[in-house]
Amino acid sequence: DRSIKIAPSILSADFANLGAEIQAIEARGADWIHVDPMDGHFVPNLTIGPNVVAAIRPHVKTFMDVHLMISPADPYIGAFAKAGSDMITVHAEAGPHLHRSLQSVRAEGKMAGVALNMTTPLDHVADILDDIDMILIMTINPGFGGQKFTHAMIDKVARCRAMIADRPIHIQVDGGIDPTTAPLVAKAGANVLVAGSAVFRGGSVAQPNIYGDNIRAI
Ligand code: DX5
Ligand code: ZN
Repeated sequence: DRSIKIAPSILSADFANLGAEIQAIEARGADWIHVDPMDGHFVPNLTIGPNVVAAIRPHVKTFMDVHLMISPADPYIGAFAKAGSDMITVHAEAGPHLHRSLQSVRAEGKMAGVALNMTTPLDHVADILDDIDMILIMTINPGFGGQKFTHAMIDKVARCRAMIADRPIHIQVDGGIDPTTAPLVAKAGANVLVAGSAVFRGGSVAQPNIYGDNIRAI
């Protein structure tokens, strides 16, 4: 299904009210809920662990998309799977055995994504496409919300779309997606658009945000 999906990142939500924030963005048209665990090692920030993912799971009625910024990822795949993730994305740069990580995710019965940092070429995954359900093209350096979109990644998205041809692989973009950049990446072939600060501007959907009542306006 290559229809455009909007995946708000709860990294920019009010962490003291995650359940309510998730309910609010789903009511406003979110297709997936994007969750960003960070380990303070692979990226210079610490965010959430499997216990928090398990706690928010009952509030997610759509699809929970978990983007692991953790190295090594393998010791935690089981915990994030049991916490209720639907998609688990591991970074290609997070360890020497990406294929094993993907096998572990699928062995847990979950969809398997691969995130590519901006300097990691598409070639990294070209030979294992049958083992991948989603390719996440990073459009910022991971670690923080609110950074500026990197326009050089638009061509990478287009080349990724050509590479996967008619395989059932989602192309996700993450970083600096807003109403200006979303059409650019969608036109290039991305079909899952993550947006954090653009959705939760002000730190909470309870406050006015640029989408009014409809996140799909992105
Ligand atoms: C950053 C995360 C993103 C982040 C995006 O490493 O992977 O999901 O929330 O935030 P924005 O949309 O504000 O760039
Ligand atoms: Zn993310």
